Amino acid sequence: MTDAIVSLLREDRQFLPSDSFRAAALVNSKEAYATLYERSLAEPANFWREATDALVWRQPWTVFQEGTGGSSTFFTDGKLNVSESCLDRHLKTPNAHKAAIVWEGEPGEVRVLTYRELHREVVRLAAALLDLGVKPGDRVAVYMGMVPEAAAAMLACARIGAVHSVVFGGFSSEALRDRINDSGAKVLLTQDGAWRRGGVVPLKAMADKAVENCPNLAHVICLRRIDSPAKCPIVLREGRDHDWATLLAAPRSVEASSLAKTPEAFSAEHPLFVLYTSGSTGKPKGLVHTSGGYLAGAHVTAKFVFDLKPTDLYWCTADVGWVTGHSYIVYGPLSCGASCFMYEGAPNAPDPSRFWRMIERHGITILYTAPTAIRAFIRWGDEHVVKHDLSSLRLLGSVGEPINPEAWMWYRRVIGGDRCPIVDTWWQTETGSILVTTLPGAVMSKPGSAGLPMFGIVPSLVTEAGEPCAANEGGKLLIDAAWPSMARTIWGDHERYLDTYWRAVPGKYITGDGARIDQDNYTWVIGRIDDVLNIAGHRIGTAEIESALVGHPAVAEAAAVGRPDELKGQALVVFVTVKSGQTAGPELRAALTEHIDKEIGKFARPDAIRFADALPKTRSGKIMRRLLRDVAAGNESKGDTSTLEDLSVLAALRGGKDEE
Ligand code: WT7
Repeated sequence: MTDAIVSLLREDRQFLPSDSFRAAALVNSKEAYATLYERSLAEPANFWREATDALVWRQPWTVFQEGTGGSSTFFTDGKLNVSESCLDRHLKTPNAHKAAIVWEGEPGEVRVLTYRELHREVVRLAAALLDLGVKPGDRVAVYMGMVPEAAAAMLACARIGAVHSVVFGGFSSEALRDRINDSGAKVLLTQDGAWRRGGVVPLKAMADKAVENCPNLAHVICLRRIDSPAKCPIVLREGRDHDWATLLAAPRSVEASSLAKTPEAFSAEHPLFVLYTSGSTGKPKGLVHTSGGYLAGAHVTAKFVFDLKPTDLYWCTADVGWVTGHSYIVYGPLSCGASCFMYEGAPNAPDPSRFWRMIERHGITILYTAPTAIRAFIRWGDEHVVKHDLSSLRLLGSVGEPINPEAWMWYRRVIGGDRCPIVDTWWQTETGSILVTTLPGAVMSKPGSAGLPMFGIVPSLVTEAGEPCAANEGGKLLIDAAWPSMARTIWGDHERYLDTYWRAVPGKYITGDGARIDQDNYTWVIGRIDDVLNIAGHRIGTAEIESALVGHPAVAEAAAVGRPDELKGQALVVFVTVKSGQTAGPELRAALTEHIDKEIGKFARPDAIRFADALPKTRSGKIMRRLLRDVAAGNESKGDTSTLEDLSVLAALRGGKDEE
């Protein structure tokens, strides 16, 4: 950790929002931000009551917080229906016929769903789920691509109090199967296939393979997105599988028919969703988010951070399968009544100017994307950007990993025309909503720094020894107290939740990130300091990769580490020792790559697989990861070509000390 922190950038450029942006901004000065922030700490109940005033509380809460740390609950006695706050409330306003989702498919077709239309779709799907026997608290898995129905699926679950578990469409059948079984989902919502770079990702076929081994799963509902037996053949299994459109058109029970008007209200602490993410063991964690606290956090941050206006067309490029898609495609912006743009496919399909063509075509005003995408755009060349009119843009956002100042400057100049503020937003699957950023019309931005704490959030840093850090001293990033949108538990494993996040520094939340906080209270995040990698903005646990690899019959031991990568932030390098009698070489390398595709998904493919005759170990037998990271970083050219490396020699040179 210390190496990374010592080499922290000392970046001193600063950018103030323009006068014109500031003039129209919701929070338009440093003082206004400070007043709100201080109030959020001094009088949290009053702050949150006002901030969430627009949400529909069917039973208003009187208790803001009960308990502390990892045992906290928020808005404890309040009741609400999340879908009502995101949809119904707009139907009584001029937003009723406003676009909720403007969607462009990869082949180029456009669909617009107004709030009224989205409401209708959600009600119909919710009614169908209810009639299939889905009860409040039941889990529903969603394995879909970027289509409006994926958002409708989430909101339909919310409407009947079912807990959705969205699984990113890039995950393999095996990964889907494990997530369905861990959460105990009884229904799966999927689609025949999704367009990706001109090809079809056969989601239904992959789901079929997964559910062969999901004993509790009773129903599969399949949307026809590709709708072509030639391009994407599917089989609907009698008794288990339902065609989405046919199912929604079927007659409904009286109870289901009443869903359009009066959905049931649920406790603020009722679980809204489970979302799996990687941790430091081989088993992904299903983080559980609540209805009230999560929605409050997503709503308030969407409103203030993106400074949403009725005239905005807001685009978050994340996939619905990650938390960014949950909070900033669905719950945050829809609860604010925003018009959201949604795109199905790849950024370079059919060519690298796709994003910029869509911004021009639709008049998109806010773009929220990831540094890894920005670095890819830089590499593809400015010519793809400058031929398009991007003057509709007024605000840019970044999320998912630290953004290097060069990429930040390019984003500002080439995409933002030196006119748009950039909000770098730091948060995690666990935090539910943005915790650190610079409110765009209020305060200056520093390229590379996530910025200042959001309302109610107090970040702090401790050294390895647990001592508080001085200004600019690097350390472990903590959040000092619980906040409404934090995950409440890990599905089925509350002890793991408390151990991972709350016990190492009693009472404080441990983020797993390293950072420094500068003299202006700006947080500079360096990245993960636990055994989690951030590969192109995708969170991958080293232990998950390792346990997948040792599951291959030829592998004896495996160690996965990250190496710095110009494009992806981090690249994945694995060191593998083979069992006796097995041959390390190109064939096994190809087989192991395929094995990862199958066990986790293509997005987790190692960038390099290196065979070693033994892994370097400390005297107590722990793999010397720091040494492997050095080897991975310093020896890139060897990458995929090396056969057997003698790493034990290196370990011997280092004396095999217990250094980590
Ligand atoms: C990890 C969380 C939050 C949605 C997407 C990722 C890194 C995230 C930033 C940022 C520096 C960032 C952290 C964090 N991260 N945003 N703006 N600056 N680092 O969610 O998969 O749960 O990953 O992503 O390392 O811990 P996630």
